[in-house]
Amino acid sequence: MIHDSPKNTTASLISPDIDHHQVSANKPVKLGIMASGNGSNFEVIAQAIADGKINAQIQVLIYNNPEAKAATRADKWGVKAVLLNHRDCKSREKFDGKVAETLKQYDVEFVIMAGWMRLVTQVLIDAFPNRMINIHPSLLPSFKGVRAVEQALAAGVKITGCSVHFVSLEVDSGEILMQAAVPVLPDDTSETLHARIQVQEHRILPMAIALLS
Ligand code: GRF
Repeated sequence: MIHDSPKNTTASLISPDIDHHQVSANKPVKLGIMASGNGSNFEVIAQAIADGKINAQIQVLIYNNPEAKAATRADKWGVKAVLLNHRDCKSREKFDGKVAETLKQYDVEFVIMAGWMRLVTQVLIDAFPNRMINIHPSLLPSFKGVRAVEQALAAGVKITGCSVHFVSLEVDSGEILMQAAVPVLPDDTSETLHARIQVQEHRILPMAIALLS
């Protein structure tokens, strides 16, 4: 478990109730990480494991975009990176079937969607029931789906943030595990706001995973 009190008073933690997820307290949790792009969240997870803050090991990174920088980061950390390109599959279900098969092949117990930019189907949910979490750059249930930071700016909210939640079929709608709040500043662009949200993502995603380990 991470014993790290929040250093930033703009952040708050909510509802870490995970008793029913039955992950062993002793053995490292075997993680599968899914990412489509930059992979900064992948890297903070790898760092938190290296620092002994999470009792886990990363079995595999799955990425769906050949250009994803996440794959380069996985190489750097000695983590196997598997490209599964959704463009090669005829349906979302077939693609998720391949993803599930690969995760099982690598003996994954728990799945972390860290910037996975694909809608999931029941095929994947059935393969890892209550065993998949996602990080989203808003205070859910506000601003679900794509361009969440832009949605928050357009709505004129003064506070937004990020959420770690369990994955369900409806996008960004599963049980919330942890959240952090971030103020919206008067001159914010989507880039500046997203950068501050990511600072908080990098805090709460490892903390949420620590709750599972
Ligand atoms: C994060 O903002 C996450 O909330 C969203 O996609 C972004 C991924 O960032 N789902 P990175 O690829 O981990 O840097």
